[in-house]
Amino acid sequence: MKTTRRGFGTIAIGAAVGALSGSALLSRKSHAQTRANHAAGVYDNSIIQLNQNESARGPGPKTMEAIRAHTSTRVGRGYAPDHVGELHQALADHYGIDRENVQLATGSTPLLQGSVRAFCDADKALVTPLPTYTTSLSTARRIGAHTVELPLDRNLAIDLDQLADNAGGAGMLYLCNPNNPTGTVQGPAAVEAFVRRVMEENPETYIHIDEAYIYYARPGAMETALPLAMEYENVFITRSFSKAHGLAGMRIGFAMAQPRTLEKIRDAWGMGDVNMLGAVAALTALEDHDHIAWEAKENAEIRDEAIAFFRDLGYEAPDSNTNHIFVNLRMPAARFRSACLEHNVLVGRDFAPLEQSHSRISLGSREEMAVALDVFRKVLA
Ligand SMILES: Cc1ncc(COP(=O)(O)O)c(C=O)c1O
Repeated sequence: MKTTRRGFGTIAIGAAVGALSGSALLSRKSHAQTRANHAAGVYDNSIIQLNQNESARGPGPKTMEAIRAHTSTRVGRGYAPDHVGELHQALADHYGIDRENVQLATGSTPLLQGSVRAFCDADKALVTPLPTYTTSLSTARRIGAHTVELPLDRNLAIDLDQLADNAGGAGMLYLCNPNNPTGTVQGPAAVEAFVRRVMEENPETYIHIDEAYIYYARPGAMETALPLAMEYENVFITRSFSKAHGLAGMRIGFAMAQPRTLEKIRDAWGMGDVNMLGAVAALTALEDHDHIAWEAKENAEIRDEAIAFFRDLGYEAPDSNTNHIFVNLRMPAARFRSACLEHNVLVGRDFAPLEQSHSRISLGSREEMAVALDVFRKVLA
């Protein structure tokens, strides 16, 4: 399977394009052309996609080999897919918990959606910092649940005291750690103090800790809150194989919590299926510690270079613990986005309430970043 940097026809890129999402932009291309390319196993990389926090490097070699080895007509059988039960058990073993403490899903997205549906309504608010990852917030808005939106602190970190102050009567608090889009992180002592305070003062309120980016956190910066989820029924963790494991296209996520909490989330919303090849891939990726360590190191080096690049130009960016950076470019994100797109680099969307000043840039491969940093330099000049 080849990838190529050759363009397949020019895309008309105007200022209006800044408002388009990556997928909307890509779907502007001729469908026939796209289909022909996909049939040939050729993917159009003429746009550098720094907009969605996927791993630019994809899965490691062992995971790729496992996917290849299991690619057979067996995929015709799958309503009771092979390997999904194994993955479920492997996750329980990996984290030293019971099978009943693990809920698989088609990416972690259904867990984010289901938990808001389970625990929030017009009377029981979703309390969320902003900017943060907004699937929980958009779900709350969709179902007419009450929402409380809180600003970050001066360092663009989540203000845990403020979050706890707003827990009274709330349905659920959302804590993204490390946070998307800011990349900031909360250490283990702070998370533990926060959870214990909320559980003592407001034991009815649920706490969702989203650890999608945990493998990209700087060494020693954080720990999983899993022990707290095992201690308190109202605390649950979500994880994703879409980030450091490089399996976003396979759609696998999971939650870890006490069985009654998982049951409530499941009852509120469909969790989707995990497919056979995805399960095989995740089984391998989960235990490929060398690859995860390499991925984290590679990302960290690219991240340090990108942050230094912007700081050298006089722009502020917090230290990031993720595979993206959040930079105060002192201009609207939409303007930066459309200027970069004219050079075929696609950066992240608006993150209210900082969309007039900050842009999120997902980190690409070394090769992609070399091109992108040149583009950023031109656009900012
Ligand atoms: C913090 C966070 N949580 C969850 C998700 C959802 O990812 P997925 O459904 O691929 O697991 C994302 C995706 O970008 C994310 O940034």
